[in-house]
Amino acid sequence: MLRTFFFVLLLLSIAEASVSQGKLIYTKECLQCHLNGKALSSHKTAQKWKELFNIYNKTNELAQTHLNTKKAKSSWPYFHNASYQKDSKHLKDFMQKYSSDRGRHNSCN
Ligand code: HEC
Repeated sequence: MLRTFFFVLLLLSIAEASVSQGKLIYTKECLQCHLNGKALSSHKTAQKWKELFNIYNKTNELAQTHLNTKKAKSSWPYFHNASYQKDSKHLKDFMQKYSSDRGRHNSCN
């Protein structure tokens, strides 16, 4: 019983660590063009974020949107880079945490 409790606690802290990692990645790679992460993430539902970050053919919808947008040209090296695939899990966790249906927003506090 106690063991299960600690296991769940461990999983929760891993999930929380992924969210903070996503936040760091966002600050480094996305903030230059977008609003702060919480504001952006609250524009979509958790399910929608999941779809945008779902990897298929070594890329995902979010990367494609940027690669198809001339205005986002300076982000192309990042979205082409293999490290984006690793980052996207953390970015997804961060975006989902503050998504429109799951997030806690300042106005509700
Ligand atoms: C060089 C600038 C630039 C960078 C860096 C950048 N974006 Fe974007 N992003 C854009 C542009 C331009 C669009 C196209 C839509 C628009 O005009 O706002 C866009 C669109 C989006 C959208 C809307 C997609 C949709 O289907 O609704 C999301 C979400 C997004 N970006 C998230 C991110 C995330 C997360 C990162 C970091 C990994 C990032 N962006 C990095 C410029 C950028």
